[in-house]
Amino acid sequence: MTRLCLTLTKKRLAENLQDLQTNKPDLAELRLDLLSPDEQKKAAAFPVQSPVPIILTCRLSRDGGAWKGCRTEREALLLEALEGNFAYVDLEKDEDSALLAAKAARQGTKIIRSLHNFNAVPANLEARLEEMALAGNMVKGAFMCRGCSDLLKIFEQAASWKKKHPLGPELILLGMGPFGLPSRILAGKMGLYLTFCSCEGEEAAPGHISLGTLRNLYRAGELGKNSQVFGIIGNPVLHSRSPEIHNPAFRSLQMDAVYLPFPVDDVKAFFKVAEFLKIRGFSVTVPFKEKVRSFLVKESPEVQSTGACNTVLGKAGASWQGFNTDIQGFLEPLTRILKAGETLKDMKTAVIGAGGASRAVTGALVQSGCSVTVFNRSPQRAQALAEHFSCSWAPLETLGTSGKKSFDLVVQTTSCGMKGKEDPVPAYQFSGREILYDIIYSPPETPLMHRAFAAGCRVLGGLPMLKAQGQAQFQLFAGKNK
Ligand code: ATR
Repeated sequence: MTRLCLTLTKKRLAENLQDLQTNKPDLAELRLDLLSPDEQKKAAAFPVQSPVPIILTCRLSRDGGAWKGCRTEREALLLEALEGNFAYVDLEKDEDSALLAAKAARQGTKIIRSLHNFNAVPANLEARLEEMALAGNMVKGAFMCRGCSDLLKIFEQAASWKKKHPLGPELILLGMGPFGLPSRILAGKMGLYLTFCSCEGEEAAPGHISLGTLRNLYRAGELGKNSQVFGIIGNPVLHSRSPEIHNPAFRSLQMDAVYLPFPVDDVKAFFKVAEFLKIRGFSVTVPFKEKVRSFLVKESPEVQSTGACNTVLGKAGASWQGFNTDIQGFLEPLTRILKAGETLKDMKTAVIGAGGASRAVTGALVQSGCSVTVFNRSPQRAQALAEHFSCSWAPLETLGTSGKKSFDLVVQTTSCGMKGKEDPVPAYQFSGREILYDIIYSPPETPLMHRAFAAGCRVLGGLPMLKAQGQAQFQLFAGKNK
C-alpha cells in the first residue's frame, strides 16, 4: 500500500485547503515556491487547518520549481514556515543548512532528502540514495526516464532498497516523463512510501497523474507486492482508452490487478521490464504488433494468419504467448449490424488502407467469405497485402470511379480522419446501400462516417470494435480462454 500525495499548486493557502477538502488525498505537499509572496509568510498556519499530514517544500528552479530567490532568503522562509506543524520537510541532497536540520528536529518534522534530475536516471544511483539516507529520515529521487531501460532502473532500485532497508528509511522513487509513468502508478507494488499526483488538469511535474485517475482508475493506493500487472504497450499510448475497459473489469471480478499504459521506445527493453514486474499480460498497439512476435514462444492461428499480435500473455514474466483479438473485435459489431438473412459471404467489400490494421481486417473479411478489394494510397502496399490474402487490389483514387463495381461494405482502416477533418476518399459517392465501417474510434464520428450517414448508409465506428476486442482480450487476461 502506498499513499497518494497531492501536490498543491495554488497561489493562495485558502485555495489549496479547498483542493485538499475536495480531493481528500492521504497526504499533501505544500509548495512554498508556488505560493504568492504574501501567502508564503503565512504557511506556518497551514498544517493545523489541513485534514491530512503536510510535506513542506520550496522547490528550486533547477529542480523544476518556481523558487528563484537566494539561498538565505529561502532558508529564512523555510525556518519561519517550520514553526507550523509540518509532518515532513523536503530538503535537497545538497541543502546543508544546520539551522534547518536543527529546527526540523526540534519541531518533530521529518526530513525527506531529495534529488532531481530532469535529463536522466543518474549513474551510481544506489550510492547517491544511500548517502542521502544518512542525512534524512526519508529519501526521494525523481528522475527523467528517457525510455524503458530507465524505467527498469527505477524498478530495480526500488526493489533493492526494500531488500536492503526492510525497516526503513522509506523511499520515494519516481520516473518523470511519459516513460516513467508506470513507476507513479505502481509505487504501491514496489513498496514505496508515496506517489505524487495533481489536481485534475494541473500537472505539477512532468508525468503527474490526477489524484482521481490514480485512485479511481488505477486504484494505485490499494496496490501491493502481489498485485498482478497488465498493460498496453505502444508509442504513443497515453491516449489509450483500454485502461477504462480493463480496470473496471478486474474490479468487477475482485481481482487484485491493474492495467496501465507502458509507453515503449524499444520492445526488447520493454520485455525486460515485463519480466521484472512479472507482467501477466498486455495489449499491443501501433507500432509494435509485428515487432513483438520475435519474443513469443507460441502464436495463435490468428497471429500467424494476420502477422500481427495485439495480445500477449505471460507466465510469471516469461513464456510469452501471442494472440489477436482484433479479428473477433472487428467481426462482432459487423455481424450485429447485418439484416436478417444477410451474410458476409460474397459481400462485395472495399478495404481502404494496407497497413497493419488493414491486415487484420482484410484477413477477417477474406476468412468470412467476402469478396475483397484493397484500396491504398501506395498501390504497391495494396498489391502486397492483396497477394498475401489472395484478393483484389486497386489504387485508392480509383475507389468509386465509373466502371468500378459498387460495394456492399466499405471498411476504412487508415488513420485519416483521426484529426476530425480529413477524408481518405473525398471523391467517393455513397449510394446509401453500403455499410460503412470506419475503425477510427476517436473522434466517434469521422467526416467519412458523416457523409455515409447523410447518404442513408448503415454506419459503424471504431468504438464497438474497440470494446469487442477489449472484451475478448479480457477473457484471455482473466484466464477464461486459456
Ligand atoms: P496501421 O497499423 O494503423 O494500419 P500503418 O501500418 O502505418 O498503420 O498504415 C497506415 C495506413 O494508412 C496505410 O495504408 C497508409 O497509406 P500508405 O501505405 O500509402 O502510406 C494509410 N494512410 C495514412 N494516412 C493516409 C492519408 N492521409 N490518406 C490515405 N491513406 C493514408
